Amino acid sequence: MTVLGIESSCDETSAAVVQDGTLCANVISSQHFHGEYGGVVPELASRAHLRAILPIIDQALAEAGTEYGEIDAVAATQGPGLIGSLLVGLNTGKAIAISRGIPFLPVHHIEAHLFSPFLQQPQPAFPYLGLVVSGGHTLLIEVRDLGTYRLLGSTIDDAAGEAFDKVGKMLGLGYPGGPEIDRRAREGNPLSVRFARPLLDSGDFRFSFSGLKTSVLYHLRDRAVDGVLELSDAELNDICASFQHAVTDVLVTKVMYAAEKHDIRDIAVVGGVSANTGLQTALHAEAAKRELRVFVPDLAFSTDNAAMVAMLAFMQYSRGARGTLNAPAFARISDTMFHE
Ligand code: KG4
Ligand code: ZN
Repeated sequence: MTVLGIESSCDETSAAVVQDGTLCANVISSQHFHGEYGGVVPELASRAHLRAILPIIDQALAEAGTEYGEIDAVAATQGPGLIGSLLVGLNTGKAIAISRGIPFLPVHHIEAHLFSPFLQQPQPAFPYLGLVVSGGHTLLIEVRDLGTYRLLGSTIDDAAGEAFDKVGKMLGLGYPGGPEIDRRAREGNPLSVRFARPLLDSGDFRFSFSGLKTSVLYHLRDRAVDGVLELSDAELNDICASFQHAVTDVLVTKVMYAAEKHDIRDIAVVGGVSANTGLQTALHAEAAKRELRVFVPDLAFSTDNAAMVAMLAFMQYSRGARGTLNAPAFARISDTMFHE
């Protein structure tokens, strides 16, 4: 059984092939030019997807040693994401499905992230906790089974990745800020500045990162002399390490509390920020104390990719799902994903 997956929700164009539950190809093309603008420019992203999508699908099929005629089902990300970008992948997927007479499975981007740990071994067991930390989302979800999700909490303002990107911008580190802050944090002292940790002790699973961002801003203002801020490399590294420590502290504390409260032993951390080495180290350390298991996808599966789309679609298809061509693109996450 061969599934072709397509992902084009933001600034990566990707196509992947899963055959009988095994990933055979995962081709990703990143639109690096957005860095020049300090963030993703939607119209430019859509155009780049249009240019890239067919060659990337061809490359994925070639790498998997298969061809259009051998695909049993095609899946594409439906949302949430940038509408123009989503439409490129979604309509390409539908066109393939119509022309080949095969099912089209629309895939929810967040759900695909939640299942990215299934691209590797060992795999989490249901029910597991899914911490989704990306540029657009911060969600803590109880994954009870394929298709059954309970939202425990989410951010009330900025997403974790968004906080990394905004602080990166403040520090002049370019876009996206996450990877560079992570790199510098490894050289810095995480205890040098005590930044705010909003909602740390709220006793629930809500997150807030906008106050932390503001606390970094105030710190930089205080450091400026006559409005001019000059930071040495070492000072910059210390700020990065302290900021990252604050984000990590909040995420890890809430995840451990959720595992305890809901008696869940497996934790999957997914989305771009799961690549953060400080977050990974802290999670593994705290999980080990409690004999919990932590699953973090490899980098190629943590940032946006079609492998997770193809894998989720494969699992759905295996359980009898046959999808629908009547699947619109959507920009925002809605409650419909969470029904108990
Ligand atoms: O999941 P993703 O690729 O795209 C979506 O937002 O859906 O996540 C991108 C986010 C960006 O905010 C980026 O700064 C962040 O993931 N990121 C990181 C790291 N690598 C990527 N944040 C912290 N540390 C990293 N190593
Ligand atoms: Zn994503």
